[in-house]
Amino acid sequence: MSSAWNWYIGIIAVANILACVWLIRWTAKKRPGEGAAHETTGHEWDGLTELNNPMPRWWLWLFYITIVFGLIYLVLYPSFGSYPGLLGWSQYSAWEEEVEATEERVAPLFAEYAQIPVAELAENDEAMQTGRRLFGNNCAVCHGADGGGRPGFPDLTNNKWNWGGDPEQLHASILNGRSGVMPALGGALGEQGVTEVSAYVFSLTGRDAPDDLVRRGRQRFEQQCVACHGADASGNTALGAPNLNTPENWIYGTSLEAIRTTIRDGRHGVMPGQEEFLGEDRVHLLTAYVYSLSEEARAREVNGASDD
Ligand code: HEC
Ligand code: HEC
Repeated sequence: MSSAWNWYIGIIAVANILACVWLIRWTAKKRPGEGAAHETTGHEWDGLTELNNPMPRWWLWLFYITIVFGLIYLVLYPSFGSYPGLLGWSQYSAWEEEVEATEERVAPLFAEYAQIPVAELAENDEAMQTGRRLFGNNCAVCHGADGGGRPGFPDLTNNKWNWGGDPEQLHASILNGRSGVMPALGGALGEQGVTEVSAYVFSLTGRDAPDDLVRRGRQRFEQQCVACHGADASGNTALGAPNLNTPENWIYGTSLEAIRTTIRDGRHGVMPGQEEFLGEDRVHLLTAYVYSLSEEARAREVNGASDD
């Protein structure tokens, strides 16, 4: 809040208290002397006269107490400009205390889950419900509520991984973060080179591209790309270089234009490490949750493999 607002609210609070004091003094002045006859207000209906009696004492006392309470509150709590109040209370400190109390309550649960191996924990419904909440709060902004990803952010449900899908690799991705660097190769390749190698990458996904472009593109690929993406273009999890044969795991789109842009200008995807935000135990639970997200895709692959 700006300090102008603070002053505005503070001044209104004090003005209210002063108005209360004035109101009491005003009613007290009207108090008739001892033993005086009941004064009337001059209003009368059907024989009922409205008397102008003094305020009952209990009511006055309530008024005084309210004023004193207001004054004490103003001194103890932040009320003016940057004045912090004698108690040092703030919304932030109140929030922090709440967080600490919650942490004390839930930490043992996370510590317990941390003892269970990832694949086993992924089968525990209760743990996965907690995992879904953690994912919703910490990961969904980028990866989507269902983990399905969106342009620039990988799909976590298809069991296709740039950095590997073993529990250890997933854990490392989440705990320490990842930084994928695809260098800008437009300068080295030239526009014609970009066109050729893009046609080759396009053809890797099973789509048609002009044969001569694909042939020359493959040659360029062998010179410029295999160091990271591998001779068969199947990627390298140590570098986070994607498998270029499986467009499901691509982050930046599968259109020819997206491929050209990637190769010409490069890409740099950053997954923020969660160690300092969430700590080891929560990351362990999230690893199991992410592992569980691709359960269906994994089962399909196992079935598909046994069908062959
Ligand atoms: C120094 C290693 C390196 C080299 C050389 C390299 N790449 Fe990459 N490439 C990567 C990495 C790492 C990524 C992932 C970038 C990210 O995650 O942001 C990537 C991403 C891509 C993507 C994007 C896939 C997606 O997710 O949408 C394409 C396409 C691609 N590379 C093609 C190529 C081609 C073609 C060449 C050669 C002309 C090449 N790369 C050379 C490391 C490399
Ligand atoms: C600020 C956005 C952002 C947030 C928040 C985020 N991620 Fe990511 N994440 C990314 C990006 C971008 C990548 C791809 C990095 C790269 O280019 O290789 C990624 C990659 C990953 C990977 C590796 C995928 C692979 O193909 O190997 C995993 C696993 C992952 N994230 C899990 C999580 C989990 C779990 C959370 C919540 C704790 C989370 N992410 C939060 C942006 C984010």
